[in-house]
Amino acid sequence: MNYDEIFPKIISHAKEYGFIFQSSEIYDGLGAVYDYGQLGVELKRNIMTAWWKAMVQMHENIVGLDSAILMHPTVWKASGHVDAFNDPLIDNKDSKKRYRADVLLEDHIAKFEAKSLKDTQKRARKEGWEAGSEEFEKYLKNNRNAVKAREAQAKYEEALNTEDLTKLRDLIIEFGIVDPVSGSKNWADVRQFNLMFKTQLGATADTALDLYLRPETAQGIFVNYLNVQKTSRMKLPFGIAQIGKAFRNEIVARQFIFRMREFEQMEMQYFIKPGTQMEWFEYWKNYRVKWHKTLGLSEDRLQFHVHEKLAHYADAAEDIQFQFPFGFKELEGIHSRTDFDLNQHQEYSNKKLQFFDPETRESYVPYVLETSVGLDRTFLAHMSNAYQEEEVPNAKGGMETRVVLKLHPLLAPYKVAVFPLVKKDGLQEISRQIIDELKLDYSVMYDEKDSVGRRYRRHDAIGTPYCVTVDYETKDDNCVTIRERDSMEQVRVPISSLREQISKRLSWRELLG
Ligand code: GAP
Repeated sequence: MNYDEIFPKIISHAKEYGFIFQSSEIYDGLGAVYDYGQLGVELKRNIMTAWWKAMVQMHENIVGLDSAILMHPTVWKASGHVDAFNDPLIDNKDSKKRYRADVLLEDHIAKFEAKSLKDTQKRARKEGWEAGSEEFEKYLKNNRNAVKAREAQAKYEEALNTEDLTKLRDLIIEFGIVDPVSGSKNWADVRQFNLMFKTQLGATADTALDLYLRPETAQGIFVNYLNVQKTSRMKLPFGIAQIGKAFRNEIVARQFIFRMREFEQMEMQYFIKPGTQMEWFEYWKNYRVKWHKTLGLSEDRLQFHVHEKLAHYADAAEDIQFQFPFGFKELEGIHSRTDFDLNQHQEYSNKKLQFFDPETRESYVPYVLETSVGLDRTFLAHMSNAYQEEEVPNAKGGMETRVVLKLHPLLAPYKVAVFPLVKKDGLQEISRQIIDELKLDYSVMYDEKDSVGRRYRRHDAIGTPYCVTVDYETKDDNCVTIRERDSMEQVRVPISSLREQISKRLSWRELLG
């Protein structure tokens, strides 16, 4: 099974096993809003823990924050979101469907790139070229589709740089892009559309204050910069980290939890001395990509992508992209945001947001280096990376397909499943005692239904790294069998050493230390 074919399987697997459900499903759902089920919530929490440990606990100069979702409306004026947090939208006059003009163009370019790669692979098979060899790379760069992709990209970038919406529409027409639903080429003009959700504070219409649901967690950090700096007595460089919900009225909300209207971000703002931003940019780029690899995302599915067009506040920005089954897409942004945000809040609030540098005895507005990763996207990256179908021997001497989620053991929803071989003769009681011994340290599941083989399959499918079976011999030798998910190897160990055996394999210290 090819990687690019597994996406529908991941979506149904996530539902079947209780990772993710459509929000309000009994009312036919709400577009691009999802609920995390009993296993999803565990996986999500483990990703959050891995991030918090790596970012806050491992850095003595980074502290946490949990700011409110609702903020004073002037925050969003100051940050530029009221005026500039827009997507360029285009309506199709025949289908009456609305699309993001930039996404239509990027998808068009990506199609040529995919064709170029396919052509190159075909040619490489014929000529016997190794992937990555000089001939391979040369053909990849110069074949017909690669040239078309490059030309289209150059025109697209030019239109973006001039911020000319008419040019975006002209390109859609020139490239012959059709409505993905109806196939029509009857396009209206491109317009800007603000992505913030509005709500109101207060009971009566005339006294109510218009508020926004925050579209990023970062602004909660900026407006608390001075509170945290003063009360923690931090010196530059120091960071503030936060995990929380963000809301965007996304128009093209598709690809499951990749683009949602309500989602979660894990953001860290690193306050630094002006002039040191490129040094910290490199540091955080490397640190963050290493974190993704450490948690098990394949190295060859991660790449950096330099922003073609910088946001008005940034002097450097790169994405860490992950190769989802539908292509390389943004997973995390690393942004050098200069002193833009603090300066803006200083101006709009009339409060000084500066740092007094005891070495130079000067006060200045710090620069900010931001790392911003989507929790839900990280979740989807791990589901995509971990989902595998394998042919394995079955109990009858034949072969069968097992679906296995090869999640990093520390991310797996359950760490250990304990099975009594049969539901009698005291094996259940021993299993319960083992659970009692482990449950304070690990999420553990008791499972006595069906044959042991079927129980293994069930736990492979949800990524449980260790299954422990209590059998008749256990009563004599006080030993149990541990079976490891990926290798399917089984070893017999004394019950008394079980906790130690498991703790060796599930150590944050080994992973992040
Ligand atoms: N404070 C900077 C900021 O918000 P961003 O690139 O707009 O930057 C950061 O968002 C990350 O948040 C993205 O890399 C992505 O992982 C996640 N994200 C953004 N929009 C999302 C959406 N609609 N659904 C899920 N995740 C999203």
